[in-house]
Amino acid sequence: MTAAVISGRAIGWRVGGAQILDDVTLDVGAGELLGIIGPNGAGKSSLVNILSGVTRPTTGTVHLAGDDVTRRSATRRARLGLSRSFQTSALFDGLTAGENVHLAVQASGSAPFSPFRTARPRRTPDAGEGVEALLHRVRIRGRGATLARDLSHGDRRKLELAMALASNPKALLLDEPMAGVSAEDVDGLTEIIGEVRDSGVAVAMVEHHMHVVLGLADRVAVLHHGQLLATGSPRAVTHDERVQQAYLGEAL
Ligand SMILES: Nc1ncnc2c1ncn2[C@@H]1O[C@H](COP(=O)(O)OP(=O)(O)O)[C@@H](O)[C@H]1O
Ligand SMILES: [Mg+2]
Repeated sequence: MTAAVISGRAIGWRVGGAQILDDVTLDVGAGELLGIIGPNGAGKSSLVNILSGVTRPTTGTVHLAGDDVTRRSATRRARLGLSRSFQTSALFDGLTAGENVHLAVQASGSAPFSPFRTARPRRTPDAGEGVEALLHRVRIRGRGATLARDLSHGDRRKLELAMALASNPKALLLDEPMAGVSAEDVDGLTEIIGEVRDSGVAVAMVEHHMHVVLGLADRVAVLHHGQLLATGSPRAVTHDERVQQAYLGEAL
């Protein structure tokens, strides 16, 4: 087995007297997509926040490509190759799609992000893909000159993905990247995320579109009341009796 790129060990998170996450252990390898599913309030977003460094776990550890990053900030983790999809609010509505991606490419350099920093050529091709290539990768090349505020909801989601990919991450965390988009855009986003995985990125994706998760994920982790109910192939997980009782029975 190859070493995990993202690894959470025995993660627990207690806040305000409530145990939100309890003993959650998961791994995502290079070129692997782990789907994270579970009912509302199961702790999926909390887990993504802990993996990305937004929240510190109460117990347990997070490793990134073998490094213990449990005490490292989200910014530091980003520099180590971890990216997560930007929230919609992170888009600059008054800038074009291309300009938004340009900022993300700049931000992926060594210094902390600053919208006031002047543009400079990237020193190495490794610093990130070009803006055009990123727009192309998420199928919105023709929208480069469109203001972010004028993009469809689906195209905004694609733009967020392009920005998350600007740093050439080795690990990508996605929390419901298809929330609220049209069926057509779900298909497009599924294809794009599949390609990201196939390019070797370790992807952990929370998603409630069940057919997407089961079709796309290599493995699925099922959270229920903050605990890991099951982890396995989509097939194994959907046939797991406890999973069916807890959740999938209704969803499928
Ligand atoms: N900062 C917080 N303080 C207290 N409770 C929280 C906090 N964040 C999340 N929770 C609670 O943790 C539980 C899991 O939330 P969340 O991780 O958002 O679930 P999911 O993403 O699976 O729907 C919910 O009951 C939620 O109310
Ligand atoms: Mg959530």
